Amino acid sequence: MGKSKRIGILTAGGDSPGLNAAIRGVGKTALGFYGMDIIGFRDGFRGIVEDRRLKLDKSTLAGILTVGGTILGTSRDKPHRMLIDGRTRDMTQTIKENYKKLGLDALVCLGGGGTQKSAMHLAEAGLNIITLPKTIDNDVALTDSTFGFATALDIATEAVDRLHSTAHSHHRIIVAEVMGHRAGWLTLGAGIAGGADVILIPEIPYNVQRIAEAIKRRSGRGTNFSIVAVAEGAMSEEDAQAFKLVENKRERARTLHDKKEAKSELAALEQRHTGNTLRLARQLEELTHLESRVTILGYVQRGGTPSPADRLLASRLGAACADLIHEGIFGVMVAARGEGTEPVALEKVAGKRKIVPPDHPWVEAARKVGTCLGD
Ligand code: F6P
Repeated sequence: MGKSKRIGILTAGGDSPGLNAAIRGVGKTALGFYGMDIIGFRDGFRGIVEDRRLKLDKSTLAGILTVGGTILGTSRDKPHRMLIDGRTRDMTQTIKENYKKLGLDALVCLGGGGTQKSAMHLAEAGLNIITLPKTIDNDVALTDSTFGFATALDIATEAVDRLHSTAHSHHRIIVAEVMGHRAGWLTLGAGIAGGADVILIPEIPYNVQRIAEAIKRRSGRGTNFSIVAVAEGAMSEEDAQAFKLVENKRERARTLHDKKEAKSELAALEQRHTGNTLRLARQLEELTHLESRVTILGYVQRGGTPSPADRLLASRLGAACADLIHEGIFGVMVAARGEGTEPVALEKVAGKRKIVPPDHPWVEAARKVGTCLGD
């Protein structure tokens, strides 16, 4: 009999419900089904750099299926750009050395878009890497969905539901800010499921006059309240245009000076965008003469116990991940595909983002039921 495989596992990027279910799915299958050895690294890629570990065995994997967050801890550290003693350093070599020293046969990285990129970098450096897609934003490319999204969708939908009675009682506009800087899946999903009157997502720049007109039309019909679900990254047509110009400039920049200039212009625009939801609520109040309030859902959307749908998704992706390690398939993300799973090459996923296409069926359904999308 050959030596049993030894695998490492880490969770990186923002936490999301279902991470522990995924750790358990990988761990129980790897340990119990294949007889592998598994160790967890604490706090994302930093854990393997600093060799901070958590032994994952039957007892550490027990009772975590329903627990929110990640028992391993997480961070937004990147292997090739990590802050060490106040300096940004490329820690790829250290990761390689620790991987070798610990006798790892594979490293499993659980994360969103940024993690897929970091994982790809480590795969290119020669490590056996396999990833799972997690994020409440649901914006990882080439997977049907990501775990965390279903739970966040439940939470955001419940919030939109609950805002109705208070908005109705006070004849107010309530603007509910939902997470998602670049992708509007969560806002769109919760907005449709919760019956928001206006849904604003980053993919569809809005015109505040048109939103006000839609709200006034409701008032004209005797409905003196409105719920506006707005994604963190939603922006007006003018702001979207300004971002586009600077992003094009950054893509075209060849010299270091031009790159730096475009980067700082982008940072200035991002800074200006902070507080956009509050500004939007004020503008709507002025234009409609309806009192407006803001509710920022924030981290509530990422916290707490995962929904059954996320537990199921994370468990089946985790189990499939251990199968692929057993078969020796690396350099892939385990994607959700229909009822099953599918390995997708990391180079196809890294650096891509799944955003809401303007003609997506969810967008069409929202329009058909009379929701204003701000355009
Ligand atoms: O990537 C998931 C996400 O939850 C985004 O929706 C949100 O904008 C961001 O993370 C917040 O991240 P942080 O935890 O770094 O504040």
